[in-house]
Amino acid sequence: MYLRIRLVALYTISVTLIAFFMYIQKETKLAVSPAARKIAVPNPSHTLWVPEQIEPSKCLPDLKLANSSLALPELHRLFLMYKHCRNFSTLLKPTRCSEETFLLLAIKSPPINIDRRVAIRNTWGKEVAMGGRSEVKVQAQPLHQLLAYESQEFDDIVQWDFTDNFFNLTLKELHFLRWFMVDCPHAKFVLKGDDDVFVNPYNIVEFLKELNPEEDLFVGDVISQARPIRNTKVKYFIPESMYREPYYPLYAGGGGYVMSRMTVQRLQSTAEDTELFPIDDVFVGMCLAKMAVTPLNHAGFKTFGIQRPFNPFDPCLYKELMIVHKLNPTEMWIMWTLVKDNHIRCAVSVTHNYRTV
Ligand SMILES: *[C@@H]1O[C@H](CO)[C@@H](O)[C@H](O)[C@H]1NC(C)=O
Ligand SMILES: *[C@@H]1O[C@H](CO)[C@@H](O)[C@H](O)[C@H]1NC(C)=O
Ligand SMILES: *[C@@H]1O[C@H](CO)[C@@H](O)[C@H](O)[C@H]1NC(C)=O
Repeated sequence: MYLRIRLVALYTISVTLIAFFMYIQKETKLAVSPAARKIAVPNPSHTLWVPEQIEPSKCLPDLKLANSSLALPELHRLFLMYKHCRNFSTLLKPTRCSEETFLLLAIKSPPINIDRRVAIRNTWGKEVAMGGRSEVKVQAQPLHQLLAYESQEFDDIVQWDFTDNFFNLTLKELHFLRWFMVDCPHAKFVLKGDDDVFVNPYNIVEFLKELNPEEDLFVGDVISQARPIRNTKVKYFIPESMYREPYYPLYAGGGGYVMSRMTVQRLQSTAEDTELFPIDDVFVGMCLAKMAVTPLNHAGFKTFGIQRPFNPFDPCLYKELMIVHKLNPTEMWIMWTLVKDNHIRCAVSVTHNYRTV
């Protein structure tokens, strides 16, 4: 039996003041039975569009907020001043998803992470997906060209016109949801992840194939009772003026989680009515809380790394898992080779082992 998988990777670059978001998408067929894995990668011809010039955003900063937030770190002030700017244009995007798309893989990645994208395209992305995210300063023009070529070659990149930095990830989330509604509305499920995650597509599909895309579903590595960090020196610092409650709502680590079509659709309309919050996975948690959707924790999602006593390179571990965070391209390749090796026999499966936290 074959299920159609749609792969999309979200790439982001931060080029001095311009941010880009890219989506990588790839159409493949994923064999659910390990006996027969086939790949079909259509190669639709589409026109290459290279934006002539990157125009700075026309949305102006809110200077009143600049004055009232003088005591905050620079990034927080920038965030507050530009929080009302929520509409940015699309610079690159792939052909629309096919209507039979079963699983869309959306991976965040900065354009400079070419090696990661190559690794993903040649490992789990070969039969399934793409991905990546990072924040690197590079020269705009050449990378720009490279991205346009990459988009032409693989037809799997979505890029938006805003500055890519850590605090703008929520904008990425919002724009991804809008892109989905217009260009991929038939995909039954969506996996969102970073470009350093290892995904075991067979387990993901195995897990999803009996589930109903028209019901709410949100599964990942769920954290409960996370406290906002009030220490200004930490990257995730959030002052009380930005979030007053002692705890964040339940949320899944942004490294990788899975949603049904229904949940993505509701998330999009909820996100449109929700103030941006700089931490993107917490923002999604806030929207889920509004929607009364409880994110489910699944033992197969290891977005916060693998705890000892497990051996992180035990192939059986990877055979059981769905998503593991923080692998470099070489590790990804090794793991993929091991996961595909049918001679390695492993006992248990965690595929259906999920629970509410
Ligand atoms: C911000 O503060 C400066 C200096 O105190 C003042 O000149 C300016 O008018 C203030 N701007 C706004 C929009 O309140
Ligand atoms: C963004 O677009 C929406 C819908 O087109 C519009 O309602 C909203 O006012 C826009 N927001 C800004 C800040 O331009
Ligand atoms: C987010 O991107 C916009 C548009 O490029 C930029 O004006 C804004 O400063 C960015 N936000 C942060 C927090 O850097």
